[in-house]
Amino acid sequence: MLLIKNIGLLATPQGNTARCGAEQGRIKEYRDAAVLVDDGGNIVSITENGELPQAGNAEVIDAAGALVTPGLVDAHTHLVFGGWRAHEVPLKIAGASYLDILNAGGGILNTLVNTRKASEDELFERSMGFLNEELAFGVTTVEIKSGYGLDKETELKQLRVIRRLNEEAAQDVVSTFLGAHAIPDEFKGNADGYIDYLIDEVLPTVAEEKLADFCDVFTESSVFNVEQSKKILLAAQKLGLPSKIHADEIDPLGGSELAGEIGAVSAEHLIATRDSGIEAMAKSKTVACLLPQTSLYLGKPFARARDMISAGVPVAIATDFNPGSCPSLNLQLSMNLGYLKYRLYPEEILTAVTLNAACAIGMGDRVGSVEVGKQGDMVIWNTTELPMLFYRMGSNQVKTVIKKGKTV
Ligand code: NIG
Ligand code: FE
Repeated sequence: MLLIKNIGLLATPQGNTARCGAEQGRIKEYRDAAVLVDDGGNIVSITENGELPQAGNAEVIDAAGALVTPGLVDAHTHLVFGGWRAHEVPLKIAGASYLDILNAGGGILNTLVNTRKASEDELFERSMGFLNEELAFGVTTVEIKSGYGLDKETELKQLRVIRRLNEEAAQDVVSTFLGAHAIPDEFKGNADGYIDYLIDEVLPTVAEEKLADFCDVFTESSVFNVEQSKKILLAAQKLGLPSKIHADEIDPLGGSELAGEIGAVSAEHLIATRDSGIEAMAKSKTVACLLPQTSLYLGKPFARARDMISAGVPVAIATDFNPGSCPSLNLQLSMNLGYLKYRLYPEEILTAVTLNAACAIGMGDRVGSVEVGKQGDMVIWNTTELPMLFYRMGSNQVKTVIKKGKTV
């Protein structure tokens, strides 16, 4: 058992489902609080105003008046890959766009070569390092996508690495199949053929071996159109894999409208989303998973987070960690940009990186809030007040990370 006492402020959203509209900004605050976690790693008591629960011989952590929040949830990463792509930045400075580089055989297709080459063990070791780096930033649950193999063997290799990470890393790891991330050379000019290959040859094994929790697709100009996206997502739904969509990252093709139509659990990026996409997501309660560091890195506008909240779309914020459009594992930086660029309030951002992020990856009943019955995942911060998390920039403000009732 673990008792965290002397918590100056415990700030947490509440519930098992994504918060939208005004609810996104509603945070429960406990002053002078204590949280007790049982040996199974679940929260069994929350007390306030200096009261302490019966804790027997529990290990005790004195938070010394600090702020405590739920452990952060990074709901969107591409964390398993070979190589880096540092050489692309000077190309962009010279005027090339993200899609120019991809269409010239670079970008995702460059990472594909390095990911195909790497052994499963090499990918695993490197990814463990990345997850440990995220842990130090307070991230206790992470979603990871495949999508750098684009052939059966390598996609399955990436997914097996993700499964092993879930077993061995400190974090809970959620797995997403993103075979439809780009068109590999083997199917150049034949996106339809590649989608059929994924549906006929790869998805059945992914589902059978339970290698993924979700299926995602990159709906974008010169990648997959709405019809192709719908085809693979519906095929995956039939096999029990709920949908996610990389939608409107560069061009608004109709990805967010599709997310609403097929009841996607989340739609990602949404940089160029139109009113019709926002309305569709509001109806289906699709979580908008926003990635502000990618806007920064690609030199793109910032998503219409305020319009989404006003329309009743639950908003999550994540990193998008990947070697091309966001080589950063620092979720706190996404939180800063949520404050400065999305103009969200501290309470709304806290919900975006905890409960709503958890719901975006199907974990809302276990993580994302500090409540009796949920996992004891918490961060003790080097500050006493919530707005400091979003106001300070560039420093890691984490003091202690607790996962399932253990200091990690
Ligand atoms: O979310 N947009 C597609 N996928 C990633 C980028 C992947 C890459 O460039 O390697 C993204 O931005
Ligand atoms: Fe992404």
